[in-house]
Amino acid sequence: MKKWVDSSNLKIQTPLREVVKGVLMKFECDNPGGSHKVRAARYLIEKAVRDGRIVPGETVVVEKTGGNFGFGLAVVCHELHVQVELAVGLGFSAVKRRCLEMFGARLIGIDMLSRGATPKEVVAWRLDQASRSGQSCFFTDQFSNLASLHAHEFETGAELIEQLRQWPRLKQVIFVGCAGTGASFTGITRALRSQYEVTCILVEPEGCDSAQGIFAEHPFEGMAVGVAPPFLEWELIQARYAVSPQMAMETKRRFCQSHGYLIGNTTAACLTVAMQLAQRLTDEQKVVLLFYDHGLWYTQS
Ligand SMILES: Cc1ncc(COP(=O)(O)O)c(C=O)c1O
Repeated sequence: MKKWVDSSNLKIQTPLREVVKGVLMKFECDNPGGSHKVRAARYLIEKAVRDGRIVPGETVVVEKTGGNFGFGLAVVCHELHVQVELAVGLGFSAVKRRCLEMFGARLIGIDMLSRGATPKEVVAWRLDQASRSGQSCFFTDQFSNLASLHAHEFETGAELIEQLRQWPRLKQVIFVGCAGTGASFTGITRALRSQYEVTCILVEPEGCDSAQGIFAEHPFEGMAVGVAPPFLEWELIQARYAVSPQMAMETKRRFCQSHGYLIGNTTAACLTVAMQLAQRLTDEQKVVLLFYDHGLWYTQS
């Protein structure tokens, strides 16, 4: 019966490696589901199961995502015997959509989407349909659900602090991150601040300014997604850097050749900035960033 109430079979713990002198990268890409988002998914789903809002075997989980959160949900929900239905915009890559199905998610509202409906409208339709038929449906709502933020504060951040003990001289952490929901950025920063002096750097795509609600087309899937990141606490941020696709691509190419890992686009953007900052560090300072996900997703559409 234990399997029905927790997902402890999932190994969610990732290595922290000094990839370049002074630059520590946490390999979230090694998680089941391929990114840091599985942590938010697990925390949120387990909490809802504990609270009785999800009944394994009965409740259907619904979300609008074509990205890493969808993979996280699929992995966690499979472990807990909970069905997942995702409204995935048709603009997302066909490969991602096929893989989400392979991971066990059901893609919903395809007809509606092809007639021009938004994923948000598909979710509303699905929830309405469920309430009319008395079916138990739970909308995870990652852009408002505080559990995402808590997952990164109490799990990712806490795990990172344990790992940083390997550097006993460390006093100041320069955390370089980006924001979609802002949950990982704020959660990790909050945790780090309980132990270290922290300087927070927000990376954004060139031409975007999330604070002002200015967004442009860019290839950094997962950051600056067209809405102000709901969990970002702007007062935590000391500096913002803009990165162009060309700069990130050059970092990606170099990192592939020097380390043998194809990093995703958001990681490449953050690493571009991290490498600049690492040039003037003392022994008591480290730059920390996440390896959010692998780059293979972004090599084809
Ligand atoms: C690849 C990638 N990088 C960064 C982010 C931003 O993460 P967060 O939602 O915690 O701000 C996401 C979010 O989906 C992502 O998929």
